Amino acid sequence: MAPLQKPGSFPLLGALATGCLLLIGLWTQEGSALPITSHCKLDRSNFQQPYITNRTFMLAQEASLADNNTDVRLIGGKLFEGVKTEEHCYLMKQVLNFTLEEVLLPQSDRFQPYMQEVVSFLTKLSSKLSLCRIEGDDQHIQKNVQELKDTVKKLGESGEIKVIGEMDLLFMSLGNTCI
Ligand SMILES: *[C@@H]1O[C@H](CO)[C@@H](O)[C@H](O)[C@H]1NC(C)=O
Ligand SMILES: *[C@@H]1O[C@H](CO)[C@@H](O)[C@H](O)[C@H]1NC(C)=O
Ligand SMILES: *[C@@H]1O[C@H](CO)[C@@H](O)[C@H](O)[C@H]1NC(C)=O
Repeated sequence: MAPLQKPGSFPLLGALATGCLLLIGLWTQEGSALPITSHCKLDRSNFQQPYITNRTFMLAQEASLADNNTDVRLIGGKLFEGVKTEEHCYLMKQVLNFTLEEVLLPQSDRFQPYMQEVVSFLTKLSSKLSLCRIEGDDQHIQKNVQELKDTVKKLGESGEIKVIGEMDLLFMSLGNTCI
């Protein structure tokens, strides 16, 4: 999968929010392999709600303004390295779990009102993926997720801000890999 590109200027974001539905459609066709388990799946409609899509992108936009580390990209090609397409949703489930528990909850007083709505939306998605498993060993997946966690921990609070600034990418990647 090609690394996701993030728009560099804000006027593009509105168009992107609408356009991402289109992109999700295209990416889904690309990764046409069936998921290993039927539980690694989210309904397309989760990603077609204009209101929560807007809230997610607004949250990302606000956090991006506070993120001055442009060298690091957390959600991108490297995260998926060595991981089969049908395991991507399971990988994103791990990233989502980390994001909720170790980033959004500690930062939950910030970026209101977006934060609260996005957290409750993502918590629902996370519980819908609770039975998502892969067959066999998941060491290779845990290794990539651990690298992301280590990067965030190393950056400290600015790492957490970066994760929030990539909330649009998290949203699109979940749609891309789990629909
Ligand atoms: C979200 O909605 C608000 C209000 O309708 C609008 O001003 C803003 O540009 C939208 N943001 C995105 C990223 O779509
Ligand atoms: C994260 O994963 C742990 C362990 O599987 C689970 O107990 C917890 O409920 C998950 N958290 C969320 C927010 O899904
Ligand atoms: C942005 O950079 C300034 C100056 O280097 C630093 O003091 C500040 O903590 C940084 N902000 C974040 C969110 O990392």
